[in-house]
Amino acid sequence: MTAQNETRNTIVNSWNEWDPLKHVIVGRADGTMVQAPEPAIERDWPDHGFPLGTYGPLPKEMETRANQQLDNFAKLLEDRGIRVDRPTPLDFSQEVRTPDWEQNSMFGCMPPRDVLLTVGNEIIEATMSQRARWYEYLCYRPLLEQYFKEDPNFRWEAAPKPRLADNNYKKDYWREWDKKSEAEKERAIYELDWVLTEKEPCFDAADIGRAGKDLFVYRSSVTNEAGVEWLRRHLPNHRIHPVWFYEDNPIHIDATFVVLRPGLALANRKRKPLTPNMLEFFKKNDWEVVECAKPFLDDYPPLSFCSPWLSMNTLMLDPKTICVDAQEKEQMEQFDKLGLEVIPVPFIDVSAFGGGLHCATADVYREGNCEDYFPHQIEGF
Ligand code: NVA
Repeated sequence: MTAQNETRNTIVNSWNEWDPLKHVIVGRADGTMVQAPEPAIERDWPDHGFPLGTYGPLPKEMETRANQQLDNFAKLLEDRGIRVDRPTPLDFSQEVRTPDWEQNSMFGCMPPRDVLLTVGNEIIEATMSQRARWYEYLCYRPLLEQYFKEDPNFRWEAAPKPRLADNNYKKDYWREWDKKSEAEKERAIYELDWVLTEKEPCFDAADIGRAGKDLFVYRSSVTNEAGVEWLRRHLPNHRIHPVWFYEDNPIHIDATFVVLRPGLALANRKRKPLTPNMLEFFKKNDWEVVECAKPFLDDYPPLSFCSPWLSMNTLMLDPKTICVDAQEKEQMEQFDKLGLEVIPVPFIDVSAFGGGLHCATADVYREGNCEDYFPHQIEGF
């Protein structure tokens, strides 16, 4: 029997961020672009290498180093008996269009976590909310097709693709943002005044932290209220908790608030929760919420739009074992004191390609069932 027609015993199933990991997708850095400006995101960050309007491929030598770290990480997982699949990159430098818009470039496929949300035996392709990322799901289609053939119980879903027309975005949002005073920015943070309108449901999968029956959804700059509501209606057996934090560039929950294992969550020491009753909710259910350690970096790595808080962006292999970026010594010490077995993984060169260890992965199979870790609910949270 050749490898091609061999059928594999694939199971799609994952309910949380910590049960024993058996099968995972690890991204690739190939061809990743600094994406062209678009209504959803316009970076004017000259100090980080992104003056307004610049876009194009990240340097080849950076890509090579990132792929080496991703390949090493994939091997480390395989050596522990975990099946690892990889996406199929596209030509991300190509212009893309729909009847509503044209966009000068795509982005990449390093962070599968952003696109794929696994809830039990279902993988949901997220809507995404940036035009550069609208077609990113195509990188994962070869794998999803394969899982569909191999696992008769796999539920393959795609959230409705938003049109991402101009009326999905507040007009001139980023230019107006740059003109805001500190007090006005603060007000925007409290009022969740982010770039998306409520025209259509939008969410990135990385805005969701999974804890069995309870899902925590970050109301970020890429996930709107309609996106939260779509998830609520689509997953009626779950409890969907929208959460938000004091952060002026909110995107993706996994460098801000992380449910690590039953009874333990890691909170960003700077981005304080603003959601009423959120901390009470964890306390009422006997969960400890610990503030993360000081990250290794003070500022964004070169050519990276990801913050030093990737220190929190970790991957649990089981409730006792955690993969952490090898440079995050203080974070590793903290996990060690919390009784976790820490696996240091060199990963800093991947940052510019869209994230850390959690971003770079998407669960296919973790052992375990859907449990209720929060039997004491709070009305309105
Ligand atoms: N972009 C966010 C989240 C990354 C996982 C950050 O830089 O903190």
